[in-house]
Amino acid sequence: MNVKQQLSLYKTMVEQALEALPFEGAPDRLKEAMRYSLLNGGKRLRGCLVLAACEAAGGNISDALPFACAVEMIHAYSLIHDDLPSMDNDTLRRGKPTNHIVFGEGMAILAGDGLLSHAFEVMAACRAPGAFTALSMMAKAAGVSGMLAGQTLDITLEGTQPDRDTVRQIHLGKTAALLTAPVIAGFALAGADEDTLAAGRVYGENLGLAFQIVDDLLDLEGDAALMGKTLGKDVQEGKITWPACVGAQQAKQDAAACIEKAKAALNIPALHSAFLQELAEYTLHRVQ
Ligand code: IPE
Ligand code: IPE
Ligand code: MG
Ligand code: MG
Ligand code: MG
Repeated sequence: MNVKQQLSLYKTMVEQALEALPFEGAPDRLKEAMRYSLLNGGKRLRGCLVLAACEAAGGNISDALPFACAVEMIHAYSLIHDDLPSMDNDTLRRGKPTNHIVFGEGMAILAGDGLLSHAFEVMAACRAPGAFTALSMMAKAAGVSGMLAGQTLDITLEGTQPDRDTVRQIHLGKTAALLTAPVIAGFALAGADEDTLAAGRVYGENLGLAFQIVDDLLDLEGDAALMGKTLGKDVQEGKITWPACVGAQQAKQDAAACIEKAKAALNIPALHSAFLQELAEYTLHRVQ
C-alpha cells in the first residue's frame, strides 16, 4: 500500500468516528453548528497522525481513535475562531462559507467552545494505559504555551516586519503544536518509551514548521479551488509569514530542510516509521 492509500484508509476511519459522535444533550442549533465545521471535509492530517503514530509504535488503533477525533475537534475549533471577523476575518473554509457566516458570530464562538470541551470529554473517557499522558499532551498543545501562544503572536504582531526567530515561534505555536501532540499521543497510547516520545516531538515540530511554511506559500501561489479558502489574504492583511520574512524561494528550501529533519528523527529501532516518513514528504508537496 502506498502513502496515499494508507492515508485514505486512516482518513475514512477518522471520518466515520467523527460522524458517529452523538454530542449528547447539545441543543440542536449548537450541534448543527459544531457538526457543520467538524464534518465539512478537511485533510484529517492530525487525526491520521494519531492513528499512524500509534500503529508505528505497535499500539492498538482502537485506543487511538478517540484521540484522533479529539485532535480534529480541537483543530476545527481553532479554525472556527481563526476565521472570526476579530481574527483573520475569513468567509470561506474548506470550500464553504465559514461558521460565523452561516450561524452568526455568537454561535460560531459557542461551536468552537463546544468542540474544544467535547474533545476533552472524549479523551477522558479513554481507559488505555497511556491515555493520561496523551491527554496532557493535547491540553498543553492546545493551550496557553502552544496553539494559543502562536495565535496571540500571529494577531498581535500583524503588520510588523518579523525576524526568523519570531516567525518560527509563531509557527511552532499556532501550527506545529497541534501536529506534534497527535504524534506523541499516538506513541504514548502504544506505551512507547521517553526516547520515542522525544523523537516524536522533533518529527512533529519539524513537520509542523514545514506544514505552515507550505500553507503560507499556498496562500501566495496556490489554487483557490483546491485550497477551499480565500487566498492572497496574508499579504493583504500584513500577516507574519515565512515567505514574507525570507522570500518564497528560501521558504521552499527551508520547508524541505524541516521535512528532512522530521524524517531523520524517526530513524530509531523502536518504530515502524516508513509511513510517517513518507507522510512528511507527501505533506511538503501538497496542493491543498
Ligand atoms: C489549516 O490546517 C490551518 C493551518 C494550520 C495552516 P489544514 O490545512 O490541515 O486544514 P484542513 O483540516 O485540511 O482543512
Ligand atoms: C491557522 O493559521 C492556525 C490555527 C487555526 C491555529 P492560518 O490563519 O494561516 O490558517 P488558514 O490559512 O486560515 O487556514
Ligand atoms: Mg490565522
Ligand atoms: Mg487564518
Ligand atoms: Mg494560512
